Amino acid sequence: MNILMLGNNGFVGSVVQEKIKQNNNVYVVNENFDVTEKNETFNMLNRYVKEKNITCIINCIAMANLDDCEKEKELCKKINLEFVKCLCDFSVNKKIYLIHISSNAVYDGNNAPYSETDIKNPVNYYGKCKAEADDYINNKASNFAIVRPITIYGSKNKNDRHNPVTYFVEKLINNESIKLVDDNIVNMVHVKDFADAVSFIIDNKLTGEFNISGDVSESRYDLGVRICNVLDIDLSLIEKVSGKDFIMLAERPNNTSFNNSKMKIELKIKPRSLDRTIMDVGCEYRNK
Ligand SMILES: NC(=O)c1ccc[n+]([C@@H]2O[C@H](COP(=O)([O-])OP(=O)(O)OC[C@H]3O[C@@H](n4cnc5c(N)ncnc54)[C@H](OP(=O)(O)O)[C@@H]3O)[C@@H](O)[C@H]2O)c1
Repeated sequence: MNILMLGNNGFVGSVVQEKIKQNNNVYVVNENFDVTEKNETFNMLNRYVKEKNITCIINCIAMANLDDCEKEKELCKKINLEFVKCLCDFSVNKKIYLIHISSNAVYDGNNAPYSETDIKNPVNYYGKCKAEADDYINNKASNFAIVRPITIYGSKNKNDRHNPVTYFVEKLINNESIKLVDDNIVNMVHVKDFADAVSFIIDNKLTGEFNISGDVSESRYDLGVRICNVLDIDLSLIEKVSGKDFIMLAERPNNTSFNNSKMKIELKIKPRSLDRTIMDVGCEYRNK
């Protein structure tokens, strides 16, 4: 397929791009663009679609920091909802297969584990925009896949945002103490498992919604304990706290863990070992 990849320089987009390049012609936008500039963005997308004969678009663009989204609601809405709606209309109009990346933030965290058919009930503004975008695509398009990752972990490039594993490992290896919440539970997914899922969906032209997660459902505190045990780090560096002890702009759902049966059966993804990745990330940071 001739695929146009949007958001290819983000944490998720960069790994997805590497994976799907194996079986497809993948194009990225070479010039700087800002999706809040609607006319310029869609003129440019139109040009790429024509010139490269694009048959599939993958949208990994998002304003993904929950607290920033709560603080700058208008900007969040433009990037995470308005742009997605226009991209959906554009794809339907041009008969392009749309792959859109959603989020576990569409769920309220009170009824885990969540499968694809469960009700969305977001508790923060980021989640509200992501949920509304998913519903819009579901109602307007037929040739689409909404791929919904839970919190994603894995090695990161220098300029990528930290994920829980890289952040905690770096702090703990530098002997810094950290407070970790015992609520906010997820079964995190490795970024390469997520990329494998997207690649399988594209190769088999699957449509619908897919919840993508790992197998280990645990709190940030339990993850910290796991990291200390795997990397032989002093457990006294971590302190168990509650999310209620932090003042955060965006409310965090309690437990958004996924039921990943559809991912395992239909996409044949077997989640990578979390401990193995912790060891690899630990080696990277110890060798710095
Ligand atoms: N990471 C996770 O744990 C996680 C969990 C659940 C869902 N997700 C979803 O996964 C997708 C990718 O997230 P990520 O973690 O890879 O985020 P990220 O590293 O912050 O990447 C976001 C991407 O969006 C682009 N972008 C942001 N604002 C833009 C704008 N106004 N115009 C054009 N491009 C813009 C960024 O480009 P620039 O760098 O050039 O601004 C970057 O390529 C998102 O849909 C997110 O909601 C992620």
